[in-house]
Amino acid sequence: MSRIHEALKKAVEERVSHLSVGESLNLAAIAGSMQAPAVPARQVAEQPARVTPPPPSEAGAFLRFDDLVKRCAHPTWKPDMRFSLFHRTDDDAKIGTERFRTLRSRLYQIAAAKQLRKVLVTSSVPNEGKTFVAANLAQSIVHQPDRRVLLIDADLRAPLLHVTLGAPTSPGLTDYLRGEANEYDVIQHSSEVNLCFIPCGHPVSNPSELLSGDRMKKLLDLVTPVFDWVILDSPPSLAIHDASILADLCDGVLFVVRAGETNHETAERAASEFRNKNLLGVVLNRVEQAAGYGDYYYGSLGEEEQPVLHAS
Ligand SMILES: Nc1ncnc2c1ncn2[C@@H]1O[C@H](COP(=O)(O)OP(=O)(O)O)[C@@H](O)[C@H]1O
Ligand SMILES: [Mg+2]
Repeated sequence: MSRIHEALKKAVEERVSHLSVGESLNLAAIAGSMQAPAVPARQVAEQPARVTPPPPSEAGAFLRFDDLVKRCAHPTWKPDMRFSLFHRTDDDAKIGTERFRTLRSRLYQIAAAKQLRKVLVTSSVPNEGKTFVAANLAQSIVHQPDRRVLLIDADLRAPLLHVTLGAPTSPGLTDYLRGEANEYDVIQHSSEVNLCFIPCGHPVSNPSELLSGDRMKKLLDLVTPVFDWVILDSPPSLAIHDASILADLCDGVLFVVRAGETNHETAERAASEFRNKNLLGVVLNRVEQAAGYGDYYYGSLGEEEQPVLHAS
């Protein structure tokens, strides 16, 4: 049995209770890197500098962060406290934010060993926590000094990132992909931290076609050099091809599994599609401490047996 299979099986065999939003927010393990060798955390506290030469923007000029911030939209965001751990101070949020810091560290470890800036968050089926993970991972990074993140709602079928942030939903990605808006029109910037956001945009009837067109790649090529991380939320990967299209444009995929809910055959089948591409690891979401994870370490999915997160 493969390591990922074991991890997924373990995840879904534990019949942890269903937690409602606002109860203990248990985000657990990113189960390891498929490709990157283990790097001690202290060596990767800092990320590689942003050095990639930028491609020309639509206006023909190169994109510069300062210029982008000056020219993009600045709506007032009203984050929904239920979904935004980093805007809360209660005990559940403290536990949750700590787990996202651990996830962040693990990503930095991988990024120290391979090119990793564009990360796709996906899962097999709806309601596993893709949007929750994408939003809170982004917040965990921008709450560090001098970190820039672009969060993109690439779930063009059931977009919800704008609800988490309390941000306008358009103009956004679909409008850019249809050629009806440029990068400055669709990017929103938060005045609090260096978080930028591209919402889904106006509803469309052909999401896969738009995502596989030239403009999606063009947008990512344009924006990636000016951010430390570009995090994309996506639809579930079983039955819909969008996540697979997006994975080909990203450096790595985080695969979310909802503990105690997702059937392991389903999760394994969906994750296997990314294993031969760029699967970084599994984020085991909504693990209840009482279910025995408190003293449990998940092993790595790579060749080395490496504990990656103490899910207590
Ligand atoms: N770790 C968690 N703790 C509490 N609530 C969560 C957690 N993960 C997800 N949720 C909630 O579960 C619901 C489904 O999550 P969501 O991120 O929208 O799933 P998906 O994007 O995979 O469809 C949302 O209301 C979300 O806020
Ligand atoms: Mg979602």
